Amino acid sequence: MEGGFILISYEVLHVCKQSGARLGKLTTSHGVFETPIFMPVGTLATVKTLTVEEIKEVSEGLILANTYHLWQQPGEDIVKDHGGIRGFMKWDGALLTDSGGFQVFSLAKLRDIKEEGVHFKHHKSGAPLFLGPEDAIRIQEDLGADIIMSFDECPPPYESYEYMKDSVERTIRWAKRGKEALKTDQALFGIVQGGLNKELRTHCAEELIKLDFPGYSIGGLSVGETKAEMYEMTRHLNPILPFNKPRYLMGVGAPEDLLENVINGVDMFDCVLPTRNARHGTALTTTGKVTIKNKQFERDMSSLDPNLQSSVSKYSKSYIRHLFKAEEQLGQRLVTIQNLAYLKHLMAEIRQAIKEDRLLDFKKEFYERTNYPKV
Ligand code: GUN
Repeated sequence: MEGGFILISYEVLHVCKQSGARLGKLTTSHGVFETPIFMPVGTLATVKTLTVEEIKEVSEGLILANTYHLWQQPGEDIVKDHGGIRGFMKWDGALLTDSGGFQVFSLAKLRDIKEEGVHFKHHKSGAPLFLGPEDAIRIQEDLGADIIMSFDECPPPYESYEYMKDSVERTIRWAKRGKEALKTDQALFGIVQGGLNKELRTHCAEELIKLDFPGYSIGGLSVGETKAEMYEMTRHLNPILPFNKPRYLMGVGAPEDLLENVINGVDMFDCVLPTRNARHGTALTTTGKVTIKNKQFERDMSSLDPNLQSSVSKYSKSYIRHLFKAEEQLGQRLVTIQNLAYLKHLMAEIRQAIKEDRLLDFKKEFYERTNYPKV
């Protein structure tokens, strides 16, 4: 693994007097970051369509990659030969990997969940595969990220109580087994599951806290529940999770969800939607969503986001619309840069508002000046 010793520490620098949101400092061997932070997703050791120089511009220097995908392609051994993901993709910032648990449940076919792990068929080839908590740790050791995740089960939110209870207990046992298997100094987070049941969420959080992880992820949200239900669950977990450890809400990254969940005590976020939707022509801007393929932009000479300076500011909406209509790849690249630049800007605004104890005022202005949906 490149760089050898990987260390993480976290401290809360300030709590917003108006909202209770936290401003923190996350220290890794590959960068020090102010939280709350949004981490762009680089599933296969690439933030789709961007070079590492461009990722630098539009991120804080901390990105996410996926164990499941890199395990299957090109194989963690090839990544390890490059000194881990950082050496493979020539990224000199910090990295977080997800454990593969979520992907096994969302992508794979014909799963068979056993105590030892999950037997399943590959999502494309149909080949039989197995992933368990120890394998997920071993693969993440080879991938060499600064922050890694426990192997967990992410069940659909409306499963029966009995199913959810069994699943949460298994996720707790898997977290313990993963912690015991870890041989490196990578920062392993526990993942709180429990669907929409507060009692199970409390139980899962309390059991994981006993295992003393350096950080806690909140999984199993943004998987079909309403936004109100998601916000309710982060609000519930806020006083339960340890104050002095980072909290990471997995797979959540709509602008309004970032803001609402920061108010509920979340420090870290990732989501594929800002980059995936970019490739389908949906831009996130300081005034809200823009569907760039719409006819109304055919002759629009203004930039995608006149309030935000970035390397895409020089292009007109008319030009970017043309690129999408002509199926030119540059269009996808430009909107990807815009969306990540906007989320970076939004998180900086949120951190500034926390420092100045005015995050609730900021929230009011945010909904007044954008078309992002308010619950
Ligand atoms: N990404 C989004 N949600 C989840 C989750 O519940 N578990 C894991 N491992 N990754 C996720």
